[in-house]
Amino acid sequence: MSDSVLSQFTQTVVEEKKATGRRFKVGIIGTGWIAESHIETYKQMDDVDVVAMADLIPGKAEAFAKRFGIEGCRFYPSHKEMIDAEELDAVSVCTYNMTHAECTIYALEHGVNVLLEKPMCVTTEEAVAICRAEKASGKVLSIGFQPRFDANMQMIKKIVQSGALGEVYYIQTGGGRRRGIPNSTFIEKKTAGVGALGDIGCYSLDVVLNAIGYPKPLTVTGYTSDFFGTSLEYSAPENACRFNVDDFAAGFIRLEGGVILDFRISWAMHMDTPGDTIILGKKAGLRIPSTDCWNGTFDKPLKIYSDVGGRQVETEIPLIDTRKQKGLFYQKIRSFLDAIANGDPAPVPSSQIIYNQAIIDGICKSAALGREIEIEIPEI
Ligand SMILES: NC(=O)c1ccc[n+]([C@@H]2O[C@H](COP(=O)([O-])OP(=O)(O)OC[C@H]3O[C@@H](n4cnc5c(N)ncnc54)[C@H](O)[C@@H]3O)[C@@H](O)[C@H]2O)c1
Repeated sequence: MSDSVLSQFTQTVVEEKKATGRRFKVGIIGTGWIAESHIETYKQMDDVDVVAMADLIPGKAEAFAKRFGIEGCRFYPSHKEMIDAEELDAVSVCTYNMTHAECTIYALEHGVNVLLEKPMCVTTEEAVAICRAEKASGKVLSIGFQPRFDANMQMIKKIVQSGALGEVYYIQTGGGRRRGIPNSTFIEKKTAGVGALGDIGCYSLDVVLNAIGYPKPLTVTGYTSDFFGTSLEYSAPENACRFNVDDFAAGFIRLEGGVILDFRISWAMHMDTPGDTIILGKKAGLRIPSTDCWNGTFDKPLKIYSDVGGRQVETEIPLIDTRKQKGLFYQKIRSFLDAIANGDPAPVPSSQIIYNQAIIDGICKSAALGREIEIEIPEI
């Protein structure tokens, strides 16, 4: 690959917007595990006051605030009471997947900007309702995909958009792990809605869909299984008896523009990896090393496969040292607040992630029916 092509991939610094002097009154909905990353990040920002927290579990929000040394904060038994009582600029929706839609829609309908944790929600219908509430509100809704801010992840999009691969026609993606089923609220339909698909599948879908400009998904053939989560051989009895989501899923998706997406994701299987991610273009192919989770960066170089002067060559794209960049959670939250202050579009817009959600939901629906289905997304 020539230097002029490679040099297109070197600019990786994420621009930080100037502070506008505005202060943000923020509320946190759901004070579980991921809320810890949100509060730790908000605490680093001197233009943010976390003034309210809500959790369905009595006393949980109070204990959370105490643990993180947050003073002068008010506590509520659910998102509704908090939003009704407070004048908030923004909320972080850190609840389990099954309440993402109701919390987000309620906040938007009450004029509050929303940073919504991934996955966007559970079903396509919920995603449509969220997008409609966002449109009616005129507020900022950003979806919490922090890998979007990682310099190595950004390289994938830069490479594709540079034209180095030519027209992309096939993508294999997914990833995951041999053993690594999370616990707590992740393994039950009533809280998580979906398993590996929603937890880590949404990330790997976002990496490749974002790289190719988020084309609309048209059809999907899906498969899901739960052999490990429900098995007493691989799961503790107290988890196996409540496990009722997917621990492995696969999908074959046709995207607008003729691109094929071949996807598989795993929390548990008898294999080290379901394979690297590959993006095939008419001029070159890109190999992205498989990761366990896709939620941050990766630790092996990207590789471009092409023909140069009649020879088949492989070009390694050196890894970018990301240790000096601001944390990914910092960038995800900062970019959301900056979008509110500057009147900019959402950094990770629902207009893209609705397609990610439609694929996840399409895989579940196709798997249940045992056949290919068409993905239909009504006008927002
Ligand atoms: N971005 C990331 O890296 C990352 C990592 C882990 C989890 N997540 C996402 O964060 C979300 C939460 O995960 P978690 O591990 O923190 O879950 P969790 O179960 O630890 O916490 C969720 C909390 O939300 C509360 N809750 C649910 N509905 C509520 C409502 N209507 N009002 C107030 N509180 C409500 C629950 O009582 C619970 O305490 C999930 O969607 C998950 O996918 C993102």
